[in-house]
Amino acid sequence: MSTEIASQSDYWNDEADSFRKIYSHEKSAFSNFLDKVFRKDMYERFVFTLHHSAPFPDKKFLDVGCGSGKYAVEFARKGAQHVTGIDIAENMLELSRRLAEQHSVQDRCTFLHTDLLGYELKELFDVSIGIGLFDYIANPFPVLSRMRQATTDRVVISFPRLWTWRAPVRKIRLATRRCPVYFYSRKRIERLMSDAGFSKMKIEKIGKLFCVVGYVNG
Ligand SMILES: C[S@@+](CC[C@H](N)C(=O)[O-])C[C@H]1O[C@@H](n2cnc3c(N)ncnc32)[C@H](O)[C@@H]1O
Repeated sequence: MSTEIASQSDYWNDEADSFRKIYSHEKSAFSNFLDKVFRKDMYERFVFTLHHSAPFPDKKFLDVGCGSGKYAVEFARKGAQHVTGIDIAENMLELSRRLAEQHSVQDRCTFLHTDLLGYELKELFDVSIGIGLFDYIANPFPVLSRMRQATTDRVVISFPRLWTWRAPVRKIRLATRRCPVYFYSRKRIERLMSDAGFSKMKIEKIGKLFCVVGYVNG
C-alpha cells in the first residue's frame, strides 16, 4: 500500500461510523437537516447509480470503494447474483458485512480489503461502480482502466466537480486530516473516460458532482 493510500485508509477507518450515519440518519435532527441540505447530491447519486446499474437479477457487480456497504447491499437486495465490494478501510468493510447480514444477503456479498490495483481479477463483472471513490485517487487513469478491464457491460462512477464553492473548503478540511482530495472538470472526465477506452458515455451534473456512466461496448 502506498503512503497516500495508507493515510486515506487511516482517515476512513476513523470516519467509518460517521459516514454510515449519513445514510442511516442516526443523528440529531439538526445534523440530519444539514445533511439534507449540503449532502443532497449524495442521496441523488444513489438514485442515479441504482437507475443506471439496473437490472440486477443474475448479474455480477463490483463496488470499488464500497464504504459502509450501502450500494453493495442494495444491489444484493434487488436480486444481484453476487456483489464484490472492495475497500482500503477495514472498519468500512466491517460495516458492509454487518449491513449485509442485517438484510440477510451475506451469501451473495463478498467484502475484501484491497485497492483495485492490488486486486487480482479472477472473474469479470457485468457492472462496476466507483461512487465517491475518485475523490481520493491521485492518479485516476490506471484505476479507471482497470475498472473497464474488469467489466463487460458498464461502469457507473462519480467525480466531485472542480468549480464549486465546496471544493476549496473540502480540500483544506481534509488536508488537515491528511486525506488528499481531488476535483475534476467535465473536460478532464471526458478525456479520462475516452483514454480508458469508453467511446460512449453519459455525464450528468448533479449538485457538486458529475455522475458518469461508461459503456464498455460503445
Ligand atoms: C466517500 S466513501 C464512499 C463509500 C461508498 N462508495 C458510498 O458512496 O457510500 C469513499 C470510500 O472509498 C474508499 N477508498 C478510498 N481510496 C480507495 C482506493 N484507492 N481503493 C479502494 N477504496 C478506496 C474509502 O476507504 C471509503 O470507504
